[in-house]
Order: sequence, then structure tokens, then C-alpha cells
Amino acid sequence: SDYNEPFRPQYHFSPPANWMNDPNGMVFHKGEYHLFYQYYPDSNVWGPMHWGHATSKNLIEWKNLPVAIAPDSLGWIFSGSAVLDSENSSGLGTAENPPLVAIYTYHNNVKGDAGRIDFQTQGIAYSLDDGVSWEKFSGNPVLANPGIRDFRDPKVTKVEVDGKAMWVMSLAVKDKISFYSSSNLLEWEHESDFNPAWAAYGGVWECPDLFPLQSPNGEQKWVLLVSINPGGPNGGSATQYFVGDFDGETFTTNQEEVKWLDHGTDNYAGVTWSNVPDADGRTIFIGWMSNWDYAQVVPTEVWRSAMTLPRELSLYDEGEELWVASNPVKEVEQLRDEALTIEGEEVALENELLEFSLKPKAGDFSGTFENEFGEILVIGKREDALFIDRTNSGLTNFKEGFASVMTAPLNGLEINEVRIMLDRSSVEVFINDGALAMTALVFPEHPYSKLLLNGFEKENKAYSLKKIW
Ligand code: FRU
Repeated sequence: SDYNEPFRPQYHFSPPANWMNDPNGMVFHKGEYHLFYQYYPDSNVWGPMHWGHATSKNLIEWKNLPVAIAPDSLGWIFSGSAVLDSENSSGLGTAENPPLVAIYTYHNNVKGDAGRIDFQTQGIAYSLDDGVSWEKFSGNPVLANPGIRDFRDPKVTKVEVDGKAMWVMSLAVKDKISFYSSSNLLEWEHESDFNPAWAAYGGVWECPDLFPLQSPNGEQKWVLLVSINPGGPNGGSATQYFVGDFDGETFTTNQEEVKWLDHGTDNYAGVTWSNVPDADGRTIFIGWMSNWDYAQVVPTEVWRSAMTLPRELSLYDEGEELWVASNPVKEVEQLRDEALTIEGEEVALENELLEFSLKPKAGDFSGTFENEFGEILVIGKREDALFIDRTNSGLTNFKEGFASVMTAPLNGLEINEVRIMLDRSSVEVFINDGALAMTALVFPEHPYSKLLLNGFEKENKAYSLKKIW
């Protein structure tokens, strides 16, 4: 592919061809960020899942690599994670050449066996050549199915308890997250379950991730991400999170209301990179920029789906509670090409890849992207809510309900900055360094050629952006 088809993302990751969903197995290793992903190499809709593979040195430019893990007699390869087993605890490598270990779900329902529900198990593959080629573990599966239909998406984290390192697996089990522990990645013991009564249960729980984050006052907290489909705040798929504590066995939280990592319709199944060096200290996230409501019918043919921009996650205080901010990683600034000066309320757009940093006045505001073909995308604030209106943003009729206005409650949050990242078929909006994020797909048939600003200060910043492909 030349990465220049209609709607092809120009600075987001998308596979060269065919179907992609969740990001998988993200691990930093020897200077490279590995990104694996749910991939069906034979079609542009979902099917027998493989792990596709790409790497990046800077989280911006990506190099596509051959399929890393393919289905075998135990099933298709569903979502999961990867870690560097630096002490060779698994014995799958050597002390001199420790293995990268991938833990994924085998989905073995190929024949649709009537009545059977025990078809999801967890398996292991390992790489001794820095992630290029992967060997399956001969003792698979490492975690058998206990008789539960939804039993998947293992995310493994290295946890230090009383100075001792151990592996903890978070697993999505229908409507709860189960935690398992292991000393060698091969034998797993059930520790606890997490499913508070007030959480969002509109759909099945998927793709958990458990990781530590420092609170603004320096306390170590733990964050648990849980994707849910359907049941998102604006319909279909979305990711809720919990801020709390983890003692190596049990996750607890004082939280009492649902919190969403991204309020838009198009950020799902996202998780964080493992093995990011302590010296870096960042928690880096990427999500699948789509929604199961319409992912398989969006108007692209050569490929389907892209990832969000990589985002750094951090904790902030607001109203005596801790919240997770998600902001584009600083490397994203390398995409900036020309700085554009925008003065006044009407801005001619000469580039379709754009970043804006807008300063609203007090009160409501709106930024309206439009072109001479009547395609209109509006981002704004109204009645203490942020909204993206994509009703007439371009092609929408491929799926009922796509032509929507999505909203996010602000709960009195004062907005200092509205940062907008516009690519050929997506818009990502970040309020106050990611205190609130909203991601939406849009399919304008022609680039937006004008931006109308209402309710902003006179001088605002903007950049045209470089393409990465
Ligand atoms: C989430 C998900 C996962 C599963 C994968 C299958 O989007 O449904 O739960 O492992 O996709 O492709």
C-alpha cells in the first residue's frame, strides 16, 4: 500500500492492508516500541485472528513487520500482552538471552460447537530474537478454561511485593476482572476478583490493564483499565477505569462512580506498554480507534482501522478525587511542520493534517470545520459538556447511528486549552493536557477547508503536520 487511499490515516498507525482491531503485546525492548495487534491478514473484516506486528523507535514512525503469531490447533490468537522475562523466570530463554514472552487468549470455537462454552484458554509464545520470530510454548494452554464463555485478554504486569518480583495477570472474565499470580509465567494461581456493584456493566468486560501511577502528592496508586462493549457513554465500545490500590493479590478502590478514559466513541481496548525504562518513567497507552458498533463497515476497503495517537497516562486531582489524564506523548510534537498564525474567527485551511491549540473565553465555544460540499464537523462546549457533532461530517450512512453528537460531562471543569488533532479520518480532542479526551472517526469526502471559531481568544496556535507514511 502507498498509504494514500481516501480516508487513510496519515500520522496514525494503520496496517498496510486488511483488518485490525485491538493493540496487543506492547513491550519496549532494546530501543524499540513493539506494537502487535489483532489482525486478519486475509480480509478487511474480522475473522481468524493473528497478531500483526510493527515497531517504532519514537512512537511516531512505524515499521511494518510480518505476522508474529498465527492460529494453531488450539485456536485463533486473541488479545494479550508481552513482557521481557529479564531473569528468565520461565526458562524459555537463557540468562544471557532472556526471552520476550507473549501471553494471549486461544479462541477455539472454529466449528461453533453447539453448547460448548469452554473455548477460551491462555497460551504463551516466546521470542529469542528480540521479537522478530515467535515460538509457541509446548505446554500450552497455561491456563485452562473453568467453564466460562468469556475468559480472555491476559495483561501481565511485573509487580514488586515486599521486595520480591512476581507476575500478575489481569484477565477479563465475563463481568469481572480476575487476578492471577505466577513466579514463572507458566503456572498461574487465582488470587482475587474485582467487580464493584456500581461499575459499568452494559456489555462484556474486555482487555484489562493494571499498572501503578503516582498521584500528584507522590503516593503510589494503581489504575485498572477495563474496556466494555457495548455500554460506552456515547454508545458501543469504551474504556472505563478505576483508581485504587493493589497489594499483590487484591485490587481495592474508594471510587464510587464510573470514569471513562476517553469520552469519544472511538478509543477501545487500549492498554499500556510494558518494560518502559524506569529512567523514562512514563506510562504509555495506545487504543484501537474504532467501535464495534460499526468498525467492520466503515468506508475503507484496502485496510480497516487505525490506532489512536500514543498517549501518556497520569493522575490528577479534581474535586478531592483522582482521575486519569491521557495526553499525546511529547514525541507527537515532532509531527509539527509549519506553525500557522490564526487571528480572527475564520481560518482558511490549506492542509488536512492539523493541530490546534485554542484558548476559550469563559462560557460556551465552538470550532466548526467545514468545506464547500456541506461537510461540517463541530467541536464545542455547551451546558457544562464538551461535544463533538459529526452528524454531517462526511460519509455517515454506512451505519445507522454513526451520524451522532457525542458529549462528555465537564462537571464544572474550567477549560484552559482545547487541543485538536485532525487527521484524514479522525479527530482527537484533549482538554487541559488530557484531563478530558474525546476521540472520533469522521469520513469527510473532501478535506475541511475552513474553520470557524466562536468563543475563543483572538490569538491561537496551530500547526500543519507531517505525514509519517
Ligand atoms: C476486544 C476483543 C477482545 C478479544 C479480541 C478479539 O475488542 O473482543 O476481547 O480478545 O477483541 O479479536
